[in-house]
Amino acid sequence: MSAEGPKSPRSGTEGRSALNAGAQALAARADGARDVIAVRRLSQRYGDGADAIVALQDIDFSVAEGEFISIVGPSGCGKSTLLKILAGLLPASQGEAVLNGTPIDGPRKDIGMVFQSPVLFPWRNVLANVLLPADVQRLGREQMTGRALELLALVGLTGFEHRYPWELSGGMQQRVALVRALIHDPALLLMDEPFGALDALTRETMNVELQRIWLDRRKTVLFVTHSTTEAVFLADRVLVMTARPGRIGDMFDVKLPRPRSLDVMTTEPFGVHTRRIRAVLSGGGGIE
Ligand SMILES: Nc1ncnc2c1ncn2[C@@H]1O[C@H](COP(=O)(O)OP(=O)(O)OP(=O)(O)O)[C@@H](O)[C@H]1O
Ligand SMILES: [Mg+2]
Repeated sequence: MSAEGPKSPRSGTEGRSALNAGAQALAARADGARDVIAVRRLSQRYGDGADAIVALQDIDFSVAEGEFISIVGPSGCGKSTLLKILAGLLPASQGEAVLNGTPIDGPRKDIGMVFQSPVLFPWRNVLANVLLPADVQRLGREQMTGRALELLALVGLTGFEHRYPWELSGGMQQRVALVRALIHDPALLLMDEPFGALDALTRETMNVELQRIWLDRRKTVLFVTHSTTEAVFLADRVLVMTARPGRIGDMFDVKLPRPRSLDVMTTEPFGVHTRRIRAVLSGGGGIE
């Protein structure tokens, strides 16, 4: 943890407030936003006995509606594990995660997820890939097609609806994956290093794009990245995790005005934030 320690009033490392926070998950906050997610004393252990790996330990934090949280931490500190628990894909060993007042205990329809690789079906064109969750959830095709076209326009893919994944660049494929995650209007968007496989320039473009989409749709987002600049550029708050077992090392607000242009990355206030992340991670390794 940095010498200053967490500053956010909702920082999960404030243990006392965390203890009764399950009941407060939906409590209205002073600034009017309500908490969408409450993670309480969450721990994850893989395996048993001497071979057991403690991936997460005593994770506590809340996320307000419409907030963009970046999660940074060394490789193997449990970031993907945390997202899998929040997605309902993995039961937590201890503690709980609550979404909109309901404990997450299995896959849910109100969550969208974007992975590092876009995982598109090669035999489905762009529109059909985007409509996959709507098909699985048996949502009305007609209504969903309208929404899909609107979202594809939002990410600049109008005209590519009937193309196949292999006809698209990596950045375009990741946009399709993003639209697919948004198609059923989830309350929460989980993104696990979604731009990690892209070249630096495309990645920067995608950062600007994602910010624009987020400003337009105001989803609650948890965004995992290894890049300190990407983390700060996108976030309202940055959660920095320590090396395994992953704990919250720091959590702080990024109060840079929006919309942010890429030029902000060269400013001193931006540097203050990235240095703060590095201070927590120094010794932890695994960061770009
Ligand atoms: N299914 C599993 N079985 C056993 N151990 C696992 C499993 N999944 C993850 N782990 C272990 O838990 C720890 C955390 O893994 P996780 O994938 O959450 O890390 P991460 O922070 O996402 O890392 P990276 O930045 O490299 O993606 C690692 O030590 C990993 O080996
Ligand atoms: Mg991971």
